Amino acid sequence: MLEEKRIIVTGAGSGIGRATSKLAAGYGARVLCVDLSPAVHETAAEITAAGGTAVGLEADVSDEKAVTGYVASALEAFGGIDGIYANAGVSGGGKPMLELSVEDWQRTLGVNTIGVFLAIKHTVPHFIEQGSGTIVMTASVAGLRANAGGVDYSASKAGVISMAQTVAYQLYGTGVRINAICPGIIETGMTKPAFDRARERGTEDRIGQINPTRRHGEPSEIGEMACFLLSERASYVNGQAIPVDGGLSASHPWVFPRS
Ligand SMILES: NC(=O)c1ccc[n+]([C@@H]2O[C@H](COP(=O)([O-])OP(=O)(O)OC[C@H]3O[C@@H](n4cnc5c(N)ncnc54)[C@H](O)[C@@H]3O)[C@@H](O)[C@H]2O)c1
Repeated sequence: MLEEKRIIVTGAGSGIGRATSKLAAGYGARVLCVDLSPAVHETAAEITAAGGTAVGLEADVSDEKAVTGYVASALEAFGGIDGIYANAGVSGGGKPMLELSVEDWQRTLGVNTIGVFLAIKHTVPHFIEQGSGTIVMTASVAGLRANAGGVDYSASKAGVISMAQTVAYQLYGTGVRINAICPGIIETGMTKPAFDRARERGTEDRIGQINPTRRHGEPSEIGEMACFLLSERASYVNGQAIPVDGGLSASHPWVFPRS
């Protein structure tokens, strides 16, 4: 599905980004794995050990110099870029609204929204020049409706959904597509504390019960959508924010059946 494609994945040191990097490599892509954490080198090593092609790079996606640096690294390593999955994100800690400081807001928006914008800004010139390219971003169901994160996190993800729509039109006629994925509850580094707490309390079986698929999702279930959107199989999908959430966002408020 991604044979010969040169793909950048951010947040590739853990969770959804790691799973997507491995899947993309399995589908034939050469992958530049980017993360703030040195764990990104493990992702690249796992891909290489499995016979794929990957390079790991430590970089902060919210720092514009680091973004131009990872774009330059991809160009140097692979001779071009065909797609980027701007996935790195932070939860913001889920603080109550009245406890949120300006610095909290700046950090959450800096990674989740501005970091994604910088990924777009510095890959799009290459995509326009070659007349093709795909951008995929990780938003969240939190960007669609309430109750999936703090105010800062939810607003940061609503911003990503807006970028899918607005940037698609700014790229009118260029051959470049942009889409966002809105994951529901996925077990990753970000949600580990919540999963650990539930396991300690013995309430693990309640996780994911408010969606009709009645379970939480796996990182690879987001990765499969990301790989599809990065590929030419999604050639007519553009400007969309696609929930991958077991059906969670399909409903009006409802009463959880306690049987
Ligand atoms: N896990 C979920 O339930 C869920 C639901 C909806 C959306 N998301 C989104 O999915 C994306 C991936 O998160 P995840 O769930 O895999 O969590 P994760 O914590 O396992 O992975 C996130 C990765 O991003 C990296 N990162 C954080 N800040 C960075 C920065 N400034 N520069 C570079 N890398 C940075 C982290 O080091 C980490 O490796 C995030 O954007 C998150 O908001 C997750």
